[in-house]
Amino acid sequence: MDWGMKNRISRIIKPETGRTVMLAVDHGYFLGPTSSLEEPRKTIEPLIPYVDSLMLTRGVLRNCVEAKYNIPIVLRVSGGNSIISEELSNEEITVSLKEALRLNVCAVALSIYVGAKYEHQTLISLANLINEAQDFGMPVLAVTAVGKELEKRDARFLSLSCRIAAELGCQIVKTYYCEDFEKVVKSCPVPVVIAGGPKLDKEIDALKLCFDAVNHGAVGVDMGRNIWQSDWPVAMIRAVGAIVHEKATIKQAFDVFHNLKTKKKK
Ligand code: R5P
Repeated sequence: MDWGMKNRISRIIKPETGRTVMLAVDHGYFLGPTSSLEEPRKTIEPLIPYVDSLMLTRGVLRNCVEAKYNIPIVLRVSGGNSIISEELSNEEITVSLKEALRLNVCAVALSIYVGAKYEHQTLISLANLINEAQDFGMPVLAVTAVGKELEKRDARFLSLSCRIAAELGCQIVKTYYCEDFEKVVKSCPVPVVIAGGPKLDKEIDALKLCFDAVNHGAVGVDMGRNIWQSDWPVAMIRAVGAIVHEKATIKQAFDVFHNLKTKKKK
């Protein structure tokens, strides 16, 4: 692997632990002003000290994140749909590699929609992106999207999607945690991170999700709503960090969350 590629990946997946806490704040690219992300700067800034990278769009990067922060950026470069369109899989590349390099990002991210109407288009977009990114030592993160069909999140479907993304040559895959998650990880020859999905009822459920994912082979998380839709986002991200980087148990992580939450109230 080329030095530039290695260096960018090691800014995302920390060599000290081999793991990563990525903060996903790219939801607006098709969801618009998502709840608790209406003003991205307010959501993002307090969390920056506790995350290893930010995943977002160029619009939010340019307008809502100060360039002075030394935070690795994973730039979403696919889009072209909205939550009110019938077919979410109709995505294409929206940002050039030149622009990604100008923004000094550490990786570019694109969604693939296996089994959906525009499967072929999204897989070819991924292949084209990888071909171009390879020339510049730019890692590509593939997101195994499920669109509105959240029930698709099982080991059979996710193994298929993750493996196809890896075969096309991406460096990192982002998928969902599921039953038999080890099977997904084992059959995917590149590092896997998990999305959190819609906000779970209780914070401890999200911490359990992180714990199960990293203890079944994920190198970390690329989570959004379960962090910043919590009433205590900083406490949540720090508890997630304890699981991912410090091997905390669910109880230890929940104690971190609970102590910080209680402190904030005082
Ligand atoms: C989709 O909107 C994005 O790719 C998100 O980055 C991804 O779904 C992770 O965010 P969450 O943990 O909220 O599912």
